[in-house]
Amino acid sequence: MSSLSVFGAQWGDEGKGKIIDLLARDADFVVRYQGGSNAGHTVIVGDEKYVLHLIPSGILHPGKVNVVGNGVALDPLTFMEEVDGLRERGIDVGSSNLRLSSSAHVILDHHRKLDGLAEAWRGGGRIGTTGRGIGPCYADKASRTGLRVADLLEPERCRERLSAALLEKNALIERVHESDPFELEEQFEKYVAVGERLRPFVCDTGALLRDAHKEGKSLLFEGAQGAMLDIDHGTYPYVTSSNTGANGIPSGSGFPARKVDRVVGIAKSYCTRVGEGAFPSEDGGEGGQELGRVGHEFGATTGRPRRCGWFDSVAVRYALDLNGADGWIMTKLDILDSFETIRVGTSYKIDGEESSVWPVGCTDLSKIEVQYEELPGWQEDITAVRRYEDLPQATRSYVEWVEERVGAPILMLSVGPERDQVIPRGL
Ligand code: GDP
Ligand code: IMO
Ligand code: MG
Repeated sequence: MSSLSVFGAQWGDEGKGKIIDLLARDADFVVRYQGGSNAGHTVIVGDEKYVLHLIPSGILHPGKVNVVGNGVALDPLTFMEEVDGLRERGIDVGSSNLRLSSSAHVILDHHRKLDGLAEAWRGGGRIGTTGRGIGPCYADKASRTGLRVADLLEPERCRERLSAALLEKNALIERVHESDPFELEEQFEKYVAVGERLRPFVCDTGALLRDAHKEGKSLLFEGAQGAMLDIDHGTYPYVTSSNTGANGIPSGSGFPARKVDRVVGIAKSYCTRVGEGAFPSEDGGEGGQELGRVGHEFGATTGRPRRCGWFDSVAVRYALDLNGADGWIMTKLDILDSFETIRVGTSYKIDGEESSVWPVGCTDLSKIEVQYEELPGWQEDITAVRRYEDLPQATRSYVEWVEERVGAPILMLSVGPERDQVIPRGL
């Protein structure tokens, strides 16, 4: 009996899909509890590449139950597209291996449209969202004007809720943004129809998870985005609209916080960010370009080039501490193979003062001057290494040095995108 939380400890794209797919082998349930189709989780199996947006990364393993919890902002059109896409590729997807919360809030066409309009409205202050309607959907959830999956299953209720929503949203779209409104009947037909397709998957996923845990099943919670994009604890306002770490599990899944046994963060051996906002260890020069080139750093959801920089031990320490992590997994260690020297951010200077803690409350994070140390690279291909002791001495020195700076044990190393390209270290 176990329950394990795995979350991103940077600004997203840490390699969560790869690791969840790997750990799913030992789990009975794999659970998404926040975020939506803003996520792009890549899983490579042999020659096949899957990019999962809404469906948990356990779906490629037969016999596992994949759960989309109540805290997910569910775009029902994307969800069904993803189900269809997987089925076309021969993956068995049905109500026995995919369950969807009746309480999940639904992303509607107007959420996606308003996401784009709000970004244009912000102008230079834009967030650089994925345009998937995430912020507007969560805003409606908090405003208590949203529609939930269960609403799509009852036509009369759906019409009532949709009609009330469109009254307000159309006014905003037409009068403030001077754009075209949505037509109630057309939207109603569309979402009731997709609701019918969702029906077989829908259940009380909170009860499902609590009962499964009581029966001794093992649960794996898959975080989306990263701790630094957390709505409460991240680089606000340049964040996403959910609690992205282990802290989002109880509210986003209906599984009690005190029943989560183990919490593990994931961080790359360097760092990336997509969209706007502070990124203290960003390298706008040759080093960053090289990391992006070797690491293939393009968004899995939007295709945007990711901003690249160096490992920031202050930010990762904060992310792990915040979520009570027992340890972490370092991914993409192989991307550093060709570097002669490797930089690691060890502390910050803000207004001339040195600090080794994340500056919560600092409203101008661009003031952070990261203090770096340089370590020698190993300049050897490590992608075929599977045992820690077989790594070059310089690689081990780097790993242990970073581990000490972060102050939490590295439980696994990932040295390539494939399932088996990992080096266990206690997980
Ligand atoms: P996620 O959003 O956290 O699941 O990460 P993404 O899928 O957006 O981005 C991670 C990318 O790195 C994907 O293309 C993965 O296939 C790839 N990847 C994951 N782990 C490793 C690794 O250890 N080494 C290399 N070279 N690539 C990796
Ligand atoms: P995964 O799960 C990286 C970023 C967007 C933008 C901000 C807000 O693949 O790690 P949103 O559309 O959520 O309102 O955008 O958050 N963002 C991500 N960046 N990986 C992700 O997901 C992200 N999901 C959202 O780029 O800066
Ligand atoms: Mg991603």
